[in-house]
Amino acid sequence: KPLVIAIDGPSGTGKSSVSKAVAKHLGLSYLDTGAMYRALAWSCVASAIDLDDAESVAQHARTFDLRMGMDPAAPSVGVGDRLIDREIRQDAVTSVVSRVATNLDVRANMKQRQRDLIAEGSAARGGCVAEGRDITTVVAPDAPVRILMTASEEARMSRRSRQLRVAAESTRSQIVDRDRTDSTVSQFTTAADGVVTIDTSHIDFRQSVEAVLQVVKE
Ligand code: CDP
Repeated sequence: KPLVIAIDGPSGTGKSSVSKAVAKHLGLSYLDTGAMYRALAWSCVASAIDLDDAESVAQHARTFDLRMGMDPAAPSVGVGDRLIDREIRQDAVTSVVSRVATNLDVRANMKQRQRDLIAEGSAARGGCVAEGRDITTVVAPDAPVRILMTASEEARMSRRSRQLRVAAESTRSQIVDRDRTDSTVSQFTTAADGVVTIDTSHIDFRQSVEAVLQVVKE
């Protein structure tokens, strides 16, 4: 049976860097599902699709040529032949991504794509670390390892601000607003049944990786 490790949590918990490190350490594939929603948001904007037009956004989600690279040493996101790893981290995408991610037809399509990618990544490397907001609950509820990473708002803000090189306070409303919108469609603040919580407020990157590896061992 493939070793699927599902990791959920809000932004600023260290989820992405820890997931990548765990995948590298265990030789598994790595899937960043947030990057998929970001890619869709970017592609809608690039195709001049009205984000308020839910049906057009859903139609685009079903048809756009999303390509995820799942090597944890060099993960990549592309639409067609165009690599968009840098573009999807920009403010213009971050500020609209929740609008496409709260579209339920979009989520149904993404769930199927994510299940297919996890199966493909698992076939290639014996397992896959998949991270996001609804992996432990919706995408891979049967995964042998399921983890929720949490952290205090303070810790999350300061991590995010270091990442973006801006003042901590200026990230607060961004993080809080996005969490509020996202939590209307996925439940990522308290652990579902059987999901192990790792609070990273007071532990560093290495300790977080260790904590995940410990859960995998058990
Ligand atoms: O940048 P950050 O780590 O906060 O977020 P991300 O993991 O890149 O996810 C970006 C956005 O995608 C989130 O704000 C959600 O709107 C959406 N998302 C989702 O709805 N479900 C997932 N499984 C992953 C991300």
